[in-house]
Amino acid sequence: MTQQNGKVLLDVSDLHVRYGKVEALHGGALQVREGQIVTVIGPNGAGKSTLLNAIMGSLPSGAGATGNVSYLGHSMSGMEVEERVARGLSLVPEKRELFSTMSVEDNLQLGAYKRKKNGEANYMDQLDAVYDLFPRLLERRKQASGTLSGGERQMLAVGRALMAKPQVLMLDEPSLGLAPLITKEIFHIISALRQTGVATLLIEQNARAALQVADYAYVLEMGELVMQGPATELAGNKQIIESYLGFAKH
Ligand SMILES: Nc1ncnc2c1ncn2[C@@H]1O[C@H](COP(=O)(O)OP(=O)(O)OP(=O)(O)O)[C@@H](O)[C@H]1O
Ligand SMILES: [Mg+2]
Repeated sequence: MTQQNGKVLLDVSDLHVRYGKVEALHGGALQVREGQIVTVIGPNGAGKSTLLNAIMGSLPSGAGATGNVSYLGHSMSGMEVEERVARGLSLVPEKRELFSTMSVEDNLQLGAYKRKKNGEANYMDQLDAVYDLFPRLLERRKQASGTLSGGERQMLAVGRALMAKPQVLMLDEPSLGLAPLITKEIFHIISALRQTGVATLLIEQNARAALQVADYAYVLEMGELVMQGPATELAGNKQIIESYLGFAKH
């Protein structure tokens, strides 16, 4: 395996997740280091969302997880989602879960809720940065989020996660349902975030785009992390090209 440098932020090992009797993840190990973009690619139903939800502590009730998820060297087992957010993890879930009757800006404010609750006087300090990244959100700050276009909703979901000032941002298929041009924009923003020191764990079905933007990549198939390596290496791997890149349209 290729040597990786940088401090480990997120360290997952021996992670098993089951929904009732069915095990969806079978003991994978994964790491995210400082300043890295790490991607997990894999087909539908492989367990990608399950992996992110297990890391975030947001699996549905009835699901069970065992194994280790450590953040900055500390185990997060039994920790509530809120606490994980407070420590620097943030997830943009597959179902974006925006409050549709509330305005764009109120949704963004909710992203900083925990920081406000903790008495941080400057809890809204990320707002300008979010509006810089997504000028469209500034234009539409008073608009009810339920009336945004699909792409604008994605931007709002990412923006809301950034309001928590995460150190590790987890994105579950940010390109889902988006036109190629907006997808490109979102990936551009993920790269820009790395410059500000935010590490990203990116789940994508658009493997081509994900491998282009990522530093390191894992392949998840049927609950197993079957392959890993620097993203450029995987992008040139014959098996990956055949299974994931060969027929991609963009
Ligand atoms: N709440 C649940 N109850 C029972 N089974 C579930 C539940 N959530 C997911 N699963 C099952 O676990 C497996 C992994 O699902 P998951 O959503 O993690 O896949 P995924 O890789 O994110 O797929 P996609 O690319 O379609 O989003 C699937 O077989 C799915 O049917
Ligand atoms: Mg999914």
